[in-house]
Amino acid sequence: MAQIFTPRADARLRLALIVGAGLVILIGASAFAWVRSGTAWAVGEPAPQPIPFSHAVHAGGLGLDCRFCHAGVERMAGAGMPSAETCLGCHDRVWNVTAQFAPLRAALARGAPVQWSSVSRLPDHARFDHSAHTQAGVACSTCHGEVQEMPRTVKAETLNMGFCLDCHRDPAPNQRPAAAVMARDYVPTDGTRDLRPYGLQVQRYEHFGVEVSPMTRCSTCHQ
Ligand code: HEC
Ligand code: HEC
Ligand code: HEC
Ligand code: HEC
Ligand code: HEC
Repeated sequence: MAQIFTPRADARLRLALIVGAGLVILIGASAFAWVRSGTAWAVGEPAPQPIPFSHAVHAGGLGLDCRFCHAGVERMAGAGMPSAETCLGCHDRVWNVTAQFAPLRAALARGAPVQWSSVSRLPDHARFDHSAHTQAGVACSTCHGEVQEMPRTVKAETLNMGFCLDCHRDPAPNQRPAAAVMARDYVPTDGTRDLRPYGLQVQRYEHFGVEVSPMTRCSTCHQ
């Protein structure tokens, strides 16, 4: 019986299949790399703010404690944002007030909060709690970077699910004694690195005979 396809056509088909498979892998790998990269999560990009506030000036230079403006971090899910009064306490009397503080006076007159933009906001389906992390000895810089050195606030980590889970699988290396959680010059000393007792207080449980850590259970972060 006569051959329908010549050996050359056969070779071309093989080549096309190999090139096709290569392309599929390349596109898949690039998409994977992109999603895992910081760029896809806007790491390092400042948000437009009503006033060009600088953490480097206030938390760095003036040395103000984070809790002075973000009073909720130890007690509440939200860190909280400073009110216009908090800023005007200094910028009304002590330092010359220029036009750039107009948004603060407008907010004060309306009795409304200042409209700061967020660089860290999670989607609504994810749940986060500052007090749980502060009490477990996880420092601000672990998730937000060295904020006190930032002239404009930017995201330092992706804050995506992979980032959360990397730590939730083994939090101990990123935990300090809770009393040292706000210290800016904390240096872990030998022997205090394994702080397991501070974490994993949530009871472990079994699911179909497999032990599951509540730290990685979906419903811990999604409801
Ligand atoms: C004088 C008040 C003040 C102090 C002190 C201060 N912050 Fe802020 N913080 C702000 C303001 C105002 C914003 C909103 C504008 C901006 O993002 O720059 C902000 C925004 C942030 C954000 C971004 C929030 C978001 O929604 O994305 C983080 C993170 C943050 N601060 C962490 C810190 C940390 C950590 C410290 C201590 C090292 C600190 N702040 C000290 C006033 C302050
Ligand atoms: C404890 C007093 C204090 C508080 C509270 C405070 N500031 Fe300031 N702020 C200062 C001082 C002092 C400077 C001047 C720093 C300099 O010129 O080196 C300054 C400078 C600034 C500048 C000019 C910064 C620059 O880059 O030159 C802006 C804008 C500003 N503050 C906004 C705010 C806002 C918004 C808040 C509230 C979230 C706030 N400040 C709270 C003391 C304060
Ligand atoms: C384990 C990671 C983690 C740690 C530690 C952490 N944060 Fe956050 N922070 C986040 C996430 C995630 C968000 C966004 C929360 C959301 O959208 O629900 C956020 C939001 C914020 C905001 C915006 C206002 C708000 O409450 O949403 C501020 C301000 C802030 N953090 C300050 C701080 C300060 C100050 C500390 C240290 C005392 C700190 N954070 C520690 C992850 C962290
Ligand atoms: C560097 C470590 C670390 C990172 C990063 C981290 N966590 Fe946690 N998380 C912890 C520790 C430690 C606890 C406390 C567990 C305990 O109570 O013993 C915790 C507890 C929690 C809880 C339980 C709070 C409660 O109600 O008891 C939630 C929800 C949570 N984390 C969400 C997140 C989310 C969402 C992210 C990512 C944006 C994140 N975490 C990133 C270490 C981390
Ligand atoms: C430690 C906290 C944490 C745990 C545990 C967790 N997630 Fe998430 N998840 C997040 C955060 C934060 C986001 C939002 C950022 C992102 O999309 O990566 C997210 C996003 C998602 C998304 C949306 C992805 C998208 O592209 O929009 C899905 C789906 C999801 N999670 C499913 C799960 C499932 C299923 C589990 C259990 C196996 C789980 N998550 C456990 C924190 C968590």
